[in-house]
Amino acid sequence: MLTATLIKGDGIGPEVADAAVRIVEAAGAPIQWDIREAGGEVMTKYGETVPDSVIHSIVRNGVALKGPLTTPIGSGFSSANVTLRRRLNLYANVRPVKSFPGMKSRFEGVDLIVIRENSEDLYSGLEHIVVPGVVESLKIITESASLRIGRYAFDYAVRHGRKKVTAVHKANIMKLADGLFLECLRRVASQFPQIEYEELIVDNTCMQLVMNPSRFDVMVMENLYGDIISDLCAGLIGGLGLTGSANVGSEGVAVFEAVHGSAPDIAGRNLANPIAITLSAAMMLSHLEQEEAAQRIQSAILQVIKAGKTLTCDLGGNATTTEITDAIIAAL
Ligand code: NAI
Repeated sequence: MLTATLIKGDGIGPEVADAAVRIVEAAGAPIQWDIREAGGEVMTKYGETVPDSVIHSIVRNGVALKGPLTTPIGSGFSSANVTLRRRLNLYANVRPVKSFPGMKSRFEGVDLIVIRENSEDLYSGLEHIVVPGVVESLKIITESASLRIGRYAFDYAVRHGRKKVTAVHKANIMKLADGLFLECLRRVASQFPQIEYEELIVDNTCMQLVMNPSRFDVMVMENLYGDIISDLCAGLIGGLGLTGSANVGSEGVAVFEAVHGSAPDIAGRNLANPIAITLSAAMMLSHLEQEEAAQRIQSAILQVIKAGKTLTCDLGGNATTTEITDAIIAAL
């Protein structure tokens, strides 16, 4: 048996996490769960969003599956997600975005990977009031983190048989910060002559993505651009309910999570789509070299989507979380 930490999270988190656990078990994957609590509700109970015991559990197990964690907007405690990423040094966020045959969405044939630098940029949390009415928010870009994410992106491209890496930037305006990011990417690219390398300004990237997403393969970018573009990409194939992701750290630790939030508008109503967190669980199984179970889960999800009969409301259907979970298990 392999052990993985499970953080069910806030809002719809427990509903979709329980569904993923059922599906992983039905796929025959030898996983036992070390269940830990983190997030907004934990903050109310214990005064911190990520207790040390959660970090210890993830370090011990090497992998975690995580539901969404609530973060208050504009004020209040800082993001538990950012805390987790920082404390575990989860520097690379990887989001595969692939069309589902049979799913009504704007495009067919999308098959791209967004790789987002997860540790710095405007997410360093360095903000201060200079004088009343003037705020400074610091964007930190370092050579070491840029080289590290560049290497990760090119290694990923080689390992997964990908052909091209696109570096997304705004170096025409942030000549120093994004200029350094690009310079590092170019250095890494020169060591991978077999992979095509291109650079694209972030605004143009957004336009190209909504016009012709099939032109992209692996994309690599700083934290803020990655945050925005990865959700844009989820929208290309049918929404946040269909996209899994991984946060990968330098010491072999990885946290797999659905990309959507805690969806307070539908929480507790058995309406949430469990596919995103289940796809993240499948990514975790691949990471643990449980490829057969991972493939079975992916095929079962494809089958349910293609059949189009048991879909949750975000996918245009009226099935409950339980019904779509049962349908995926039946397809297994
Ligand atoms: P959200 O993703 O929770 O919701 C946006 C819309 O998508 C809502 O209408 C919601 O009902 C729908 N939706 C999201 N996931 C769904 C699913 N699995 N099935 C069906 N419908 C789904 O984004 P929002 O409202 O901006 O954020 C709510 C909270 O979640 C905030 O506190 C935010 O900080 C947090 N959040 C956490 C994330 C994480 O833990 N990785 C990611 C994004 C937001």
